[in-house]
Amino acid sequence: SHEKKALFIIFGGTGDLAKRKLYPSLFRLFRKGSINKHFAVIGTARREWSDDYFREVVTDSIQSLKPSQQELADFISHFYYQSHNVNDTEEYKILGNLANELDSTYELEGNRLFYLAMAPRFFGTISKHIKSEKIMTEHGFSRLVIEKPFGTDFETAQQLNSEIAAVFNEDQIFRIDHYLGKEMIQNISAVRFGNNIFESLWNHRYIDNVQITLAEDLGVEERGGYYDQSGALKDMVQNHILQVVALLAMEPPTLFSEEAIRTEKITALKAIRVYNDQEVKENFVRGQYVAGKTADTNYKEEPGVDENSQTETFVAGKLMIDNFRWAGVPFYIRTGKRLSEKGTRINIVFKSTPINVFREADTSHKDLPDNILTIYIQPTEGFSLTLNGKEVGDGFNIDPVKLNYRHSQENLDNSPEAYEKLLLDCLKGDATNFTHWDEVANSWKIVDTVRETWDKETTDIPTYPAGSMGPHCAFDLLEKDNRQWVWEPDSWDK
Ligand code: BG6
Repeated sequence: SHEKKALFIIFGGTGDLAKRKLYPSLFRLFRKGSINKHFAVIGTARREWSDDYFREVVTDSIQSLKPSQQELADFISHFYYQSHNVNDTEEYKILGNLANELDSTYELEGNRLFYLAMAPRFFGTISKHIKSEKIMTEHGFSRLVIEKPFGTDFETAQQLNSEIAAVFNEDQIFRIDHYLGKEMIQNISAVRFGNNIFESLWNHRYIDNVQITLAEDLGVEERGGYYDQSGALKDMVQNHILQVVALLAMEPPTLFSEEAIRTEKITALKAIRVYNDQEVKENFVRGQYVAGKTADTNYKEEPGVDENSQTETFVAGKLMIDNFRWAGVPFYIRTGKRLSEKGTRINIVFKSTPINVFREADTSHKDLPDNILTIYIQPTEGFSLTLNGKEVGDGFNIDPVKLNYRHSQENLDNSPEAYEKLLLDCLKGDATNFTHWDEVANSWKIVDTVRETWDKETTDIPTYPAGSMGPHCAFDLLEKDNRQWVWEPDSWDK
């Protein structure tokens, strides 16, 4: 059977992430039989909850999946709660005893996933106690699953890493970047390495530039306190965007395996140019939202945000990758809150033909429209390829046409959520879609120099109105290279 046996110990079991993502994902895995009879979940947090109350919370969290009475009763009977103070050694003993007890009740063979769904400042002390109080087993697997942010810069990340590395080996550590669980992010490799028509063009000879946009329409919602300390650069670029860049830029692995992919991603990240002060000013811009057509509050007035905040809610940048494949090809990246739409897309803009032979026949275009491969990551999932053809009729006008493909709604409804896929990977011990320490370290080095330059700025951060696509400077960034952001509303009817 494909059933996986394990005990999940979820630190931060009363939290938002656990409720929104983890319990629903566990339920989906349960429904599919990936976990079934031989699993148990211990939720821990400071609060004093009973097992019954915990089970009610879990029940609420999976309502939208419409469990039957029987399924529900079955599923939640595997959930246990243990209140816990992360600094109290005695309480780890109690936790350990409960873990051992559940291990024998459910025959879990000593397999344990320690999921830290809480602030990183506790990772070190929890890891230390997991070891000293022998909550890791000698038989079976013990794996640590952690959420971002992994540090706030290279130094703090390194510190954090050394704390967990004192207890867990790198191959036991699963650093979550939920973008790596997304269907279309995983599809980047399929498009590249499954299609010779693309991979053979995937270099500086044929690609003019690459554009990556992670646009959000929402503001900071209830997370103002966290976000104001972080900003878009650390919240989105250090992790999600640089992971996407690595997947787009890496050399083909010799085999689609964890080892090979990781090696290539690390090499790609190391080749991204680390800018000095002056280069940061030329290649990175930022902005902060103010009231506009989609919202009537300025970022500075959001709950939890400092009224004089200089934190960026938008960032755009131009990355250069110094290797043979990518020399001279800009990777333009941008992300922001309160933009005009939720849209995550990658545009691969190909170079134009060596000359435009239609320049006299078709006076409507000075230059031929670009060939563009677009990967739609969300909300729709699929690809489009823009090609030039002849406009129907007299004369010889060139007209771009878009070959469009999207996964069907039915397909999407049945496709696993990012967290569900990632949890299953943890159970299997497959770290392909997790970030290795070397990836984290390199990403911080790239981001740190940008942050340091901005921290020295004395002028006010540029603003942009809610509902726009960011500040002027983000458009200027491409214009000074004689380029433009490729962006049309995604008109695909879901
Ligand atoms: C998270 C960020 O990592 O990603 C959030 O902390 C952001 O600020 C979120 O909203 C976006 O994720 P998704 O899956 O909605 O694109």
